[in-house]
Amino acid sequence: MNPADFVSIVLAAGMGTRMKSRLPKVMHPLLGRPMICYPVQAAFDAGATRVVCVVGHGADMVTSELRARFAERVLMALQPEQRGTGDAARCGAAALPDWNGWFVIQYGDSALLTCAAIAALVAHASASTGPLALLTSTLPDATGYGRILRDAQGRIVRIQEQKDCTPEQRAIQEWNPGVYAIRADFFRASIGKLTTNNAQGELYLTDLVALAAADGGVADLAWDAAELHGVNDRAELGLRERELSQRIALAHMKNGVTLRSPASICIEPGVTIEPDSVIERDVTLRGKTAIARDVHIDVGCVLTDTTVGEGAKLLPYSVATESVIGAGAKIGPFAHLRPGTELAEDVHIGNFVETKKTRVGKGSKANHLAYLGDGQIGRDVNVGAGTIFCNYDGVNKHVTTLEDGSFIGSDSQLVAPVTIGRGAYVGTGTTVTQDVPADALAIGRARQVNKLDLAPRLRARLLADKARREKK
Ligand code: UD1
Ligand code: CA
Repeated sequence: MNPADFVSIVLAAGMGTRMKSRLPKVMHPLLGRPMICYPVQAAFDAGATRVVCVVGHGADMVTSELRARFAERVLMALQPEQRGTGDAARCGAAALPDWNGWFVIQYGDSALLTCAAIAALVAHASASTGPLALLTSTLPDATGYGRILRDAQGRIVRIQEQKDCTPEQRAIQEWNPGVYAIRADFFRASIGKLTTNNAQGELYLTDLVALAAADGGVADLAWDAAELHGVNDRAELGLRERELSQRIALAHMKNGVTLRSPASICIEPGVTIEPDSVIERDVTLRGKTAIARDVHIDVGCVLTDTTVGEGAKLLPYSVATESVIGAGAKIGPFAHLRPGTELAEDVHIGNFVETKKTRVGKGSKANHLAYLGDGQIGRDVNVGAGTIFCNYDGVNKHVTTLEDGSFIGSDSQLVAPVTIGRGAYVGTGTTVTQDVPADALAIGRARQVNKLDLAPRLRARLLADKARREKK
């Protein structure tokens, strides 16, 4: 075993009372994924051999989330009763009875902790002689956190929880971020010595610090508070989400993406964006959205699990979910691409056009006001304004097929299942209920009649009727 080999124990069994929520605290999402995913990911990224997550409150929910995301790589340990962080850590360590390297212990609500912080702590711990190392940080006002107490020589002697602090201790600015590296042998020998003799009547993990101070000393590594804050209530949840969002925005900008008004843009962690793309203000990019080079995403767009090809343009306020947008395509403003939309290169989908489970071939256009659901649209098709694919009969969904080069006149209804053949033409205002053969012209509307000179007579009659009504 390498001297710096470590396993992480992430404590996530608490209620999170201050969240005032039915949802367990660690399941509250931060940028689209439950909070618990962040410390677990950071532990893996830092090189943890194993990660144990301690669950209790909402155990089933937390377990299925972590299983879905990390499969068997995460071990789950149950803390049957929430008796404090010391008890939780003991439950976690019990899942790895043979481990004799370092235990890194982290809190499930430390969502901003980076893998760099964990790796630096482990390196620091392995270079020290003592059995325990921890990160420390300072804030002008550390209210709420455990405070770090040092002796006259500056050595850490213990951690005092906020609720156990004297007024003088509350003025201490150095606080405990709650990230520890503890030698497994020391941990096992000491964890049983904790008592509930404190303001909250809990077994405090932090009391191990005093035991380590008396048994080889405590190594400490100062770290930036910005990466260490926890989430205890919804105000802190909001702040952490904003900080995380800014961290992600910064990384994209450094990577060659222009973000205009980055503070107004929300990009979830799983999103990829290639250089020279431009994202305007108030854009939200979620899930596994992937954006190629030279894409322009204008104000107010919301993309979820959507792939955007090189050079595509999304005009303001377009919404796309589980869709594929081809290279050079032009979407919006106000377009709505619903799941299963697949647009080839150079497709135009204009304002107030809704698509769902529809494929559109290269160069085809639907520029205004249309519903295209369950469609198979070929290349170079033109779909006129107001076209509706009548895909649903109240029970089943049916497919509308528009073959290459066909032309659908404005305000047409295509009653699916129906096929418009290659190069065929549907006249404006037609309700199509039968297949249209290739190169045919389909017109299905009443013939127009012009009654000459009838307009003045009609107008005179309408005015006379109105005058009679008003006299009454
Ligand atoms: C804890 C630290 C405090 C530190 C702060 C940093 C202790 C006693 N205090 O306080 O020194 O400054 O974090 O953010 O450790 N948990 C369990 N089982 C339990 C209790 C808690 O799994 O029985 C989990 C919670 O789910 C949570 C984490 O441990 O993820 C921390 O618990 P929390 O109550 O938030 O501790 P703090 O009061 O913030
Ligand atoms: Ca906390």
